[in-house]
Amino acid sequence: MKNYNCLLVSYNEKVHKVDLITRNFKEVKKNHVLVKVKYSGLNYKDALSITGKSKIIRKPSLTPGLDLSGVVQISNSKKFIKGDKVLATGAGLGEIINGGLSEYVYVPADILTKIPTNLNLLSTMQIGTAGFTAAIAIEKMLLNKQNAKQGPIIISGATGGVGSISINILKNMGYKTIAVTRKTSSKNYLKSIGADEIIKYNSNFNEKILNKEMFAGGIDNVGGEVLDWIIKSTSQNGNIVTIGMAMDSKLNTSVIPFILRGVNLLGVSSTNYPNDKRIYIWKKLSKIYKPTKLNIISSNIIELKNAIKFSKKIVSGKNIGRIIVKMY
Ligand SMILES: NC(=O)c1ccc[n+]([C@@H]2O[C@H](COP(=O)([O-])OP(=O)(O)OC[C@H]3O[C@@H](n4cnc5c(N)ncnc54)[C@H](OP(=O)(O)O)[C@@H]3O)[C@@H](O)[C@H]2O)c1
Repeated sequence: MKNYNCLLVSYNEKVHKVDLITRNFKEVKKNHVLVKVKYSGLNYKDALSITGKSKIIRKPSLTPGLDLSGVVQISNSKKFIKGDKVLATGAGLGEIINGGLSEYVYVPADILTKIPTNLNLLSTMQIGTAGFTAAIAIEKMLLNKQNAKQGPIIISGATGGVGSISINILKNMGYKTIAVTRKTSSKNYLKSIGADEIIKYNSNFNEKILNKEMFAGGIDNVGGEVLDWIIKSTSQNGNIVTIGMAMDSKLNTSVIPFILRGVNLLGVSSTNYPNDKRIYIWKKLSKIYKPTKLNIISSNIIELKNAIKFSKKIVSGKNIGRIIVKMY
């Protein structure tokens, strides 16, 4: 085989374009690896990149795709040999280096992780950046002494990839979970993955400077006034992790909940998570944090040629769960 297919996002004089193209194979650079991609996924950031809603690529043109799992074909690194099953999430994929929405990809060996025991090429991508991020968020909450006895955890953007996997992991760990969604029709889905309670955000919730204590902690995927509401409704010493800004990147809040209740606001950057600590999180995802409802959350498996169509669905906020892209 001389060439392979991939998506390509490009900007020409600020005009966005996305194409399915064919690329020729090339030499593998030192400390790099050629991976035959089996699965990738569509994250919110990938959908923004593919539709051009936000400029995610930091080069004039690049293959999108934060995530990939596959098999090493050629290794020019001591870390991997031909046949190793590997995965990668974030770490510049689809932003500064060609990403996973490709039949083959050349990547630095440092960003690859061997597929942990208990997981496989498919399940790692059903988890993907969404699950990796959820696990980092939960890890941070636990390091900050969050425990199930304190009370329920609220999760916003609940039907999305990060939201759904967070709900499932927390439920499995004995936490009571409250899902915030705009999709009231998704109640059965949310219950089936572990949501104990499902609510719809209402801006009337946000009239006071401090609300009654309703949540022991939170995982927020949407930002803006929903995050403000979570902050002012969280109980003593609760931990809230801010992950996404699907609604708004701005946060207009007050210091009162932090000062009077000792609430903690934590952040996660999964893309920039240190490469040497990734294996630790993936091992946890294969054991104590292992999601058990991936067959429901990540059941939608599509072909590369349909990635553009499904990206439009994601940016419109209509998708439920996580979309997997199968290369062969
Ligand atoms: N910090 C990090 O390292 C990191 C890593 C991964 C993702 N993220 C970010 O986290 C967020 C979630 O990622 P994801 O992969 O789970 O995305 P996703 O699967 O597309 O889910 C996003 C969810 O947010 C809600 N939503 C969408 N548009 C909205 C709007 N305009 N207003 C309010 N809610 C809206 C929807 O949930 P409901 O309809 O159920 O409300 C949607 O399902 C994104 O902003 C993403 O960029 C950050």
